[in-house]
Amino acid sequence: MFHLGWFYGFQVQSWNGTWSGSDGATEWMTPDMFVEAAQAMERAGFDCMVIEDALFVQDIYKGSAEFTLSNAFMAPKHDPMPYVPVMAAGTKHLGFIPTVTTSFYPPFLAARLLSTLDHVTGGRVGANLVMSHNDRTAQNFGLDGQAEHDHRYEMGDEWVELVNRLWGSWEPDALVLDEEAHVYADHTKVSRVDFEGSFYRSRGPLNTAPSPQGRPVLCQAGGSPRGRDFAARNADILLSNVQGIEAMKEYRDDIRARAAAFGRDPDDIKIVFLVSPVLGATDAEATRRWDRMVAATEQNLEANLAFLSYYSGIDYSTLDLDAPIPHLSTNASRSTIAHTKEQSAGQTLREYASHPVRSCVELIGSPDTVAERMGEVAEEVGGDGFLISLPLTRRTIAEVTDGLAPALRARGLIRDGYPHATLRETLKEF
Ligand SMILES: Cc1cc2nc3c(=O)[nH]c(=O)nc-3n(C[C@H](O)[C@H](O)[C@H](O)COP(=O)(O)O)c2cc1C
Repeated sequence: MFHLGWFYGFQVQSWNGTWSGSDGATEWMTPDMFVEAAQAMERAGFDCMVIEDALFVQDIYKGSAEFTLSNAFMAPKHDPMPYVPVMAAGTKHLGFIPTVTTSFYPPFLAARLLSTLDHVTGGRVGANLVMSHNDRTAQNFGLDGQAEHDHRYEMGDEWVELVNRLWGSWEPDALVLDEEAHVYADHTKVSRVDFEGSFYRSRGPLNTAPSPQGRPVLCQAGGSPRGRDFAARNADILLSNVQGIEAMKEYRDDIRARAAAFGRDPDDIKIVFLVSPVLGATDAEATRRWDRMVAATEQNLEANLAFLSYYSGIDYSTLDLDAPIPHLSTNASRSTIAHTKEQSAGQTLREYASHPVRSCVELIGSPDTVAERMGEVAEEVGGDGFLISLPLTRRTIAEVTDGLAPALRARGLIRDGYPHATLRETLKEF
């Protein structure tokens, strides 16, 4: 059995297209469609949603925000936090993992917010920790640019240490609620943390009550060697978008070895791989759909160049489209440009970027065909599950939750119930 999540952000999911719905342009601004989506995922046996986030409007590509804003490409985007309690109120079991930047959330506020959300969701919250790769984000917080790449992870390690200490500042049984003795909380079980790090200081204790999970689930997607160390040291669930079976195996083995070196049990870490299945009622129908996606070369090219610019901070429109991708260096997402260089070997930038967005493995076919393939991949890689990366439209939700998920369940590959209350327990179940 493996775990299933869905990865998306609170932004336009689809608009101006055949299947965008009657109000794709603005419906995302209110939570109803996300509540519906969460309910469908829960019915289907998903473990969690991972909610992407960023704090800037991309204007790297072609030196302007025109592409971003004309196409609603990653902007406008809303803060995931306020949507979480609304979705939680409409569901009972699904976990919610909103993105939190360690670079700009003060640790005390993050610890307090996540502890509060853990109460509000009944123990179903986590945090996807990112370091905010882009200089534009830093500029929105009054800095000239981002800290050096590996240094961000150094700071992130200390940030997690402090947040964990704050969550631990109340012992789990500190609330005694003794009416006769008139003691609400036992003050001897609530301690200062007196944290003095190289980057952060905090006195503590936290001023929230101990939450159902105690420590909300931590999620991470670092890809560079330093990022992998951060993830292996701190995360409970890891997201990866490496491509191909061999790269997936390498990633998993590497993370597990790093976790063991940090004194952790590698089985405590779940690694899920990003996939964007292309589904149809039959294999032939799915293939025709895929062929149409491949044929949209001009559209793919712009979207990919903008995406690469977004993650690297390098304007890919300035590169020679008809030459191989040159060696580039970035202080933003290092693994994105490293993967791109590797995967594009033998191709020009135009050839590489004219292809639809790639997922860890290509999944094209009927629900049965794709379910079968996902089972084989999980077997081969030994991974812990998959993260569906598709815009949330009623069409994709129905295809995945009412088409693919039943085919996975019929094969015994995904859960058919939730015996545990919290996200942490749900993830640990298998
Ligand atoms: C599946 C997945 C989800 C991610 N989600 C976010 C996100 O929501 N916000 C963000 O700023 N970065 C996100 N990232 C980027 C990572 O946090 C990280 O910056 C990236 O993988 C590069 O890491 P590296 O610099 O260690 O190579 C995501 C990456 C992956 C693979």
